[in-house]
Amino acid sequence: MKKLIFATGNKDKMREIRQILGDMDYEIVSMKEAGVDIDIVEDGTTFEENAIIKARAVMEATGCLVLADDSGLEIDYLGKEPGVQSARYMGENTSYRIKNQILLDRLHGVPAAVRGTRFVCVIAAAFPDGRIETRRATIEGRIADKPAGENGFGYDPIFYLPDRQKTTAELTEEEKNEISHRGKALRMIKEIL
Ligand code: IMP
Repeated sequence: MKKLIFATGNKDKMREIRQILGDMDYEIVSMKEAGVDIDIVEDGTTFEENAIIKARAVMEATGCLVLADDSGLEIDYLGKEPGVQSARYMGENTSYRIKNQILLDRLHGVPAAVRGTRFVCVIAAAFPDGRIETRRATIEGRIADKPAGENGFGYDPIFYLPDRQKTTAELTEEEKNEISHRGKALRMIKEIL
């Protein structure tokens, strides 16, 4: 069976990718399982650039087919901040409880109609012959008035879905994977593997 490496150390992402690509003819392994221990500097200015940097670095180190993702939150009212800086916004060691509160404070009093936001996910595939493909997917929502929900991670408690009248932190894992930016991007990249 051919090997496919997903360039992440995140266990939740590995579980999701195994769920979505599990029926394909690939052995899906994490960077750690593939024995790859390299420092990758994500200094791109777009989600595409960062996903490609990760996928290409691991492909060059292993010669295998590699997938990598880069994702983040764009808030329209803040000129698409925190964007590619989502993980590093207010410092990597700042808790998401604080990051989320700071974003809510920055949007204090801003009406619902202009609280539009989206999660973006780009998946890059780096093939052993040097070919690179990317796919981008989004999920649209609105910044909540206050945090709600315990599921998910990161900015989920403030990402409100008006249709469902819930934040993404109030969805089950299965519900979120069906509609999430990452789930959609993974299903799109699956089509070209
Ligand atoms: P990375 O793609 O692992 O570099 O992470 C990007 C950052 O974007 C995460 O650390 C979170 O802050 C945020 N993010 C991306 N996807 C989600 C999501 O589904 N829920 C909540 N936060 C997310």
